[in-house]
Amino acid sequence: MVIKLKRHMTTVFGLGLVLLGIIFLVYSVLFMDSDRRLWQDMPSSVAPVASVDPKKPMVALTFDDGPYAPSTCRILDALEKVQGKATFFVVGDRVKGREDTLLKIRNSGCEIGNHTYNHVCIRGLSDAQLQQQLQKGDAAIRAVTGENPTLVRPPGGAYSKNLRKLEKRPIVLWSIDTMDWSHQNPQKTIQKVLKNVKDGDIILMHDLFVPTAEAAEVLIPELHKRGYQLVTVSELLENREKVEAVI
Ligand code: NI
Repeated sequence: MVIKLKRHMTTVFGLGLVLLGIIFLVYSVLFMDSDRRLWQDMPSSVAPVASVDPKKPMVALTFDDGPYAPSTCRILDALEKVQGKATFFVVGDRVKGREDTLLKIRNSGCEIGNHTYNHVCIRGLSDAQLQQQLQKGDAAIRAVTGENPTLVRPPGGAYSKNLRKLEKRPIVLWSIDTMDWSHQNPQKTIQKVLKNVKDGDIILMHDLFVPTAEAAEVLIPELHKRGYQLVTVSELLENREKVEAVI
């Protein structure tokens, strides 16, 4: 009888242990699963920023009027291969439907600038109209990236005194104009840059056109090979006392 009871108790104890083990397993699987789900919901991390060496030459490539996935994504891929960065001046009303591409720019560690909301020439605008163009542009970008753009570039480089009065951020023009939008010829864009490039340049291109992405796929590794660090405009401003074409 005693032996039977002992056996019975051992069986109950053993079953209890097995049950506990199963509960533990189920819980750990559930926990891991929710952890994984949490991880998937997290925004992908921002690419690490390579440190800039002020003693070495550097240039800031800038791309306007996007985002436009067929061109922007190719430019980002080319930059990633050499750990280069660039600056994208985004038009606010082009963001809707292209949020993924804008996030890709942001997550690559590249810089984002405000290029107004409707890509209007700002010279004819009243202060209120200009402010609206800038604020709506900021809001469209911030809704996707969570951050305000750090720079401003007026469309066509049409600088006006009321822009400087209303805007605290750097107003960025350029020192090399590739005219890529007008000829849409990758060879012309490549030649214009490689013949003229020097330390501290801000180079104007447009990621609204696929031929510009083709040019960038040649220019980016070539500039890297020639020893240029490909930096954002803000990095250029941090590392050079005087930068041409920034107001
Ligand atoms: Ni533009």
